[in-house]
Amino acid sequence: MTAIDLASAPDPLTVDLTDPGTFVRDDLHEMWARFRAERPVHRHPETPGRPPFWVVTRYADAMSVYKDNKNFTSERGNVLATLLAGGDSAAGKMLAVTDGARHRAIRNMMLKSFSPRALQHVVAGVRKRTKDLVGQVVAKDSFDYAREVAEHIPMGTICDLMAIPPQDRPQLLAWNKKTLSSEAENDSLDDQVMARNEILLYFSDLARHRRRNLGDDVLSTLVTAEIDGERLSEEEIIFNCYSLILGGDESSRVSSISTVLAFIQHPEQWRRFKAGEVTTNVATEEVLRWATPAMHFGRRALVDVEVGGERIAAGDIVTLWNTSANFDESVFADPFAYDLARTPNKHLTFGYGPHFCLGAFLGREELKALLDELRENVATMELVGTPERIRSNFLYGYRNLPVSFSAA
Ligand code: HEM
Repeated sequence: MTAIDLASAPDPLTVDLTDPGTFVRDDLHEMWARFRAERPVHRHPETPGRPPFWVVTRYADAMSVYKDNKNFTSERGNVLATLLAGGDSAAGKMLAVTDGARHRAIRNMMLKSFSPRALQHVVAGVRKRTKDLVGQVVAKDSFDYAREVAEHIPMGTICDLMAIPPQDRPQLLAWNKKTLSSEAENDSLDDQVMARNEILLYFSDLARHRRRNLGDDVLSTLVTAEIDGERLSEEEIIFNCYSLILGGDESSRVSSISTVLAFIQHPEQWRRFKAGEVTTNVATEEVLRWATPAMHFGRRALVDVEVGGERIAAGDIVTLWNTSANFDESVFADPFAYDLARTPNKHLTFGYGPHFCLGAFLGREELKALLDELRENVATMELVGTPERIRSNFLYGYRNLPVSFSAA
């Protein structure tokens, strides 16, 4: 049993979860274990200019809120930043922040483009891109895995998914980087807002063009599909294009970085995997649980409701901490052990219920391609510098990963 020390864990009563600085500490497992043990449904006090909010850390409680779209809504934001700010400008238009019948209709329509069959050519692209990138880096003495491998795969995949013309991709990537949490420290808020607007404008133009040049991509689906005999509005199309970039880029990239780091930190797991003792499918789930890149999501209560014995009032903000639920001792045996062969492994990394990640299949395929490529072509991996953590209360992971690989 891998034990952790609760005695020195941060006190839930004094932890500020609105401060990105909180999440670069090294004792987060201890911190969440103490929340689960002492204050599993904790009322986080207000901070200057921001209202109080609930912090749900046990697996069963988080799941009960994810499932419950009658008593909780995503339409007033689904991450702490927008919930605390009072709402999301894409509410009622973008899938992740839309509820009810409209959410179901848009989701069902988009799901057609996300079925394993429809995604065959996108997955083939993921495999090829991963093979080429890993092939390039094993020949080097050392390199930054984040820059040279991880950042090229998710955006390339989303661009394939939407059939973004190759000549537009570098510009779209540059704008996207400016909007990302992991890069945010380098850019001003104005830069971020401007880049986001550029992306929205770009999709508006592309959607107009696509209507005259239809294909079998997601954007073609969005511009032609009808719900109750009516096309989606311009805003619905644009926001849902943007949501694919938002949803698909950072969390996939960061989980890829965490995968390599976890192998370096757990050489015995690498040896097991390399020796073929664990299948790629089973290992992928542990990689996802261990990485939990999206630390939390959130909702607003629509009515007075009870969660884990606490009374939540209508209008309250409720945050669900996947990063804690995925290590809940009552669900996962020996949760702090990195065990690639772990089964069952019903982690909440992709959420649960009506808003369950639309890109889960693709996210998994990206990791599987990486695992297969590492197993086949890499003998050893080692750190050659100190990776820096992302300062964010949403995204967990590393901005860079200076490493050296030796070829198999
Ligand atoms: C929703 C995580 C990859 C698109 C979600 C949710 C989670 C999540 C936890 C639920 C949000 C909520 O309940 O409010 C992740 C992780 C990924 C990943 C950890 C990678 C490892 C992707 C990819 C795409 C994508 C590759 C698209 C190409 C979406 C969309 C939603 C969503 C559109 C909203 C679904 C809805 O509201 O019905 N994701 N995601 N995600 N994700 Fe992902």
